[in-house]
Amino acid sequence: MNQSVSASGGGANRPRARPPEDEPSPMPEQLYFRDQVVVLTGAGQGIGKAYALELAARGAKVVINDLGVSPSGQGPDLSVAETTAAEIRAAGGEAVADTHNVATPEGGEALVKKALDAWGRIDALVANAGILRDASFPKLEWDNLDAVLAVNLLSTFYVGRPAFQAMKDSGRGGRILLTTSAAGLYGNFGQANYSAAKMGVVGLTRTLGIEGAKYDIRVNALAPFATTRLSSEKNAADQSRAPGKLAPLAAVLCHPSCPSTGEVFFAGGGLFSRVSIQISDGFVLKPGEGAEELFASWDKVRAGPVRELPPSGSSLRPYYEERIQEAASEPEFGHARRNQ
Ligand SMILES: NC(=O)c1ccc[n+]([C@@H]2O[C@H](COP(=O)([O-])OP(=O)(O)OC[C@H]3O[C@@H](n4cnc5c(N)ncnc54)[C@H](O)[C@@H]3O)[C@@H](O)[C@H]2O)c1
Repeated sequence: MNQSVSASGGGANRPRARPPEDEPSPMPEQLYFRDQVVVLTGAGQGIGKAYALELAARGAKVVINDLGVSPSGQGPDLSVAETTAAEIRAAGGEAVADTHNVATPEGGEALVKKALDAWGRIDALVANAGILRDASFPKLEWDNLDAVLAVNLLSTFYVGRPAFQAMKDSGRGGRILLTTSAAGLYGNFGQANYSAAKMGVVGLTRTLGIEGAKYDIRVNALAPFATTRLSSEKNAADQSRAPGKLAPLAAVLCHPSCPSTGEVFFAGGGLFSRVSIQISDGFVLKPGEGAEELFASWDKVRAGPVRELPPSGSSLRPYYEERIQEAASEPEFGHARRNQ
């Protein structure tokens, strides 16, 4: 592909085209995607398109899925996916369009089948499709809850499961990049449906990171920030937060040499950070103490040095057992007001 369709406009050493077939495989740090097939949902425009341009520029064969709906999920426009696929092909890349609705199990299955039918493999999935239907909690209508959960959360299952299965069956593993949001990680007024969906994606990321480990299927999530029709920042002329600024992270997390799994990242405007889930050192009630003592020590429950969450939910148990043992070994433990 030529430079004009480059999404991220990266550094001078950034590869611009697939190396000829007779050249030896490039060094991993060059992040080529030769022979790699990447499926991207919601990639006809916005952030997904930026990822697709980046990955195609690096040699990936891309499946551009997009239903072409409005920001709230209305009115399909089936030309959106093909327009982006054609743009990639015109620039020398390889792309096919797909217009399945990924918010259904059938749509997810059909999308993965499309990649397998076209190129016989799937190496990475970017689950990026998303919609918004904001309302303050008392005004949230069930239709708007269902639709937002279906597109932002359930679609990651509907596409993710068949993609995971194909990656496992291939014996080569794969990479899955899911899309979360700061609205889910930190909350946002009027976005109860969207926040819950996007935080559900984090739970899925953590668990698939664990389940995928033995197959070398690495699963991560990105909370993006970019000027698109979905974002609150509407100044499209401001290139400092263009979707292309996120694209380098998609290249890193979709590449076979991706170093991470089960992790959550934030990216926007050229900044890339890891988001962690932490737990405080906490406070242990002594035998005989109850709600009053807990209330009196509420600052200790909430504050104190934070520890990063262990690698899985079930490994939290040794952590809290250790904390309880630590507390029990303190001299005053067992001499509480209401000793039993
Ligand atoms: N823009 C931001 O700052 C921001 C912030 C946080 C999270 N996100 C998330 O990033 C992702 C991309 O958002 P964007 O800002 O590029 O928005 P966008 O509206 O430009 O792109 C989303 C795409 O998803 C497609 N889509 C929606 N429902 C679909 C379905 N059922 N099947 C197939 N395609 C479907 C839409 O047609 C659209 O092209 C979304 O998941 C969004 O929630 C964006």
